[in-house]
Amino acid sequence: MAPVKVFFDDADGVRREVEADEGTTLMAAAVASGIPGIVAECGGAGACATCHVYVKEEWLAATGEIHALEEDMLEFAVDVRPNSRLSCQIRLFAQLDGLLVTTPSTQA
Ligand code: FES
Repeated sequence: MAPVKVFFDDADGVRREVEADEGTTLMAAAVASGIPGIVAECGGAGACATCHVYVKEEWLAATGEIHALEEDMLEFAVDVRPNSRLSCQIRLFAQLDGLLVTTPSTQA
């Protein structure tokens, strides 16, 4: 299995590239690579909203539907936008190779 490459832009526009094994969540890939701005307090349980990211519009469909739990939790995130997602709820597979997200300026 080839690694999946994803890009994280921070709020200042600095881009960081991460490679992760298929099946890894976007949050876990970010934390393992020390991406600033992903706090992930609950460790991926979908219960904290501190792994909030903005998915670049052209990648929204590929990241899949938002489940009700994620939608509820996003209400606790700061500066929620139509392309907001919890990165722990996005699992990386080959079709997400090249995924681009932006981390918010703050998680709380
Ligand atoms: S890590 Fe807590 S909601 Fe994603």
